[in-house]
Amino acid sequence: MKLRVFIPRDAGAVAVGADDVAAAVAATARARSIEVDLVRTGSRGLYWLEPMVEVATAAGRVAYGPVMAADAAGLLEAALIDSTHPLRLGLVDDIPWLKRQTRLTFARCGVIDPRSLEDYRVHGGCRGIERAVALGAAATVEELVQSGLRGRGGAGFPTGIKWRTVAQTAAPQKYIVCNADEGDSGTFADRMIMAGDPFALIEGMAIAGFATGASKGYVYIRSEYPHAIAAMTAACSAARRGGLLGRGVAGSAHDFDIEVRVGAGAYVCGEETSLLESIEGKRGVVRAKPPLPAHRGLFGKPTVINNVLSLATAPVILEKGAGFYQHFGVGKSRGTMPIQLAGNVKHGGLFETAFGVTLGELVDDIGAGTLTGRPVRAVQVGGPLGAYFPRALFDTPFDYEAFAARDGLIGHGGIVVFDDSVDMAKQARFAMEFCAIESCGKCTPCRIGSTRGVETIDRIMRGENRAANLDVLADLCNTMKFGSLCALGGFTPYPVMSALTHFPDDFGAPAKHLQVAE
Ligand SMILES: Cc1cc2nc3c(=O)[nH]c(=O)nc-3n(C[C@H](O)[C@H](O)[C@H](O)COP(=O)(O)O)c2cc1C
Ligand code: SF4
Repeated sequence: MKLRVFIPRDAGAVAVGADDVAAAVAATARARSIEVDLVRTGSRGLYWLEPMVEVATAAGRVAYGPVMAADAAGLLEAALIDSTHPLRLGLVDDIPWLKRQTRLTFARCGVIDPRSLEDYRVHGGCRGIERAVALGAAATVEELVQSGLRGRGGAGFPTGIKWRTVAQTAAPQKYIVCNADEGDSGTFADRMIMAGDPFALIEGMAIAGFATGASKGYVYIRSEYPHAIAAMTAACSAARRGGLLGRGVAGSAHDFDIEVRVGAGAYVCGEETSLLESIEGKRGVVRAKPPLPAHRGLFGKPTVINNVLSLATAPVILEKGAGFYQHFGVGKSRGTMPIQLAGNVKHGGLFETAFGVTLGELVDDIGAGTLTGRPVRAVQVGGPLGAYFPRALFDTPFDYEAFAARDGLIGHGGIVVFDDSVDMAKQARFAMEFCAIESCGKCTPCRIGSTRGVETIDRIMRGENRAANLDVLADLCNTMKFGSLCALGGFTPYPVMSALTHFPDDFGAPAKHLQVAE
């Protein structure tokens, strides 16, 4: 009997030994003459169970985890005779953490072989672009508009409107740029999808190219993602061979190809105009807007710039229709969000669900509280520029407007959990320090303000003229919020002021000092 064994090659699984497990499984199979078809997949996103190994059975895939190399022999024996094993987690599809999710963008992640276009097609891939080609370019753009999809990179701008602007801007050359810089703390969804289902991103970019008339795409990936870079590069070659990229994509008259570019590691290069500068070979400095990239973007040409998740969601929207997608979610937050649980959390990983689930449910129930077992004190949502939320705000539904109404942002969907040992004054200082280090230097409120912010928080922490320095800090935050050219300087006040507002004791501060103008 031939066993089909699936072991992730995702960086999060490799970091805890997945390559060793794969080598041990292969060696054991050879030594015992067991026929094994070993498939290296992406991760399912249950990181506390990685390396999670799956074995195909007549009833479906059975999961084991976390598996170590030493477990290989016992695991293969148990799989062969279908007996129990201490690491057996049961049928993957029945694992409650996965069962509770609505996986639209991540439907194939951890399931397919990310190097095989054929496997992608077997699991429903390429149907989105086929329908797009049948609909035509203009109707494809409208489908995106109607779906209600908003940019998953942070700003939440409607994706279809951006595509429509580029489609309506006449130019001999247009570009699709995928922002895979993924600089936000506690986020890894872009990395996961590129390593686990790269064809979804490629198909999404090809749909965007077809819809807007762009013939060239760039994926800008941070250098810290070698596994994702390798997977994307291999998948682009496979897509070229299989007709998803190149001349006449998916049988249309439209040509489209993709180039993978590797960033050199600057948070600000995730900001879209800075990223364009970087692709052009210049230093990553923010451009003033207008012109919008949709009018004059990469090399001065109309450019769609979207996050990985925005683009990787286009195929399912086209395949199943705008109505299907926008039926999920609440208010103006339509569809699903791949939420990433990180930091001091027991069940860290990728949880894709419709908008509307509360922050408390995500942290206490889905995340199962802290890894240390101590009480949760604060969570930072939306990366280093996101606000800190105390327990008192755990009833906030996960949607763009609800978070904005509470002076926060959902950003790229990252949630970083802290227990009661956290010092929120230090976290506020870190936000200013991060801004000072990562500032591109173009505007004064961010370049100078962040350094003054670090100094002021230091004085507050030392107890020097506390009341006066709290006023200075609030004033500084106002200046940064309203005077910065981009969101790096403009949003740094969110973590700082939320830490001050919700955790004044850590600053020795009475809460009344902590007002920032709306
Ligand atoms: C400092 C800074 C860093 C950013 N980093 C990223 C990033 O790593 N990935 C990303 O997709 N968007 C990032 N953004 C947002 C982008 O500027 C832009 O809004 C996004 O790429 C647009 O794609 P979307 O509409 O699909 O979200 C960042 C913005 C700022 C101000
Ligand atoms: S806010 Fe900061 S990162 Fe943004 S343009 Fe100004 S100096 Fe550059």
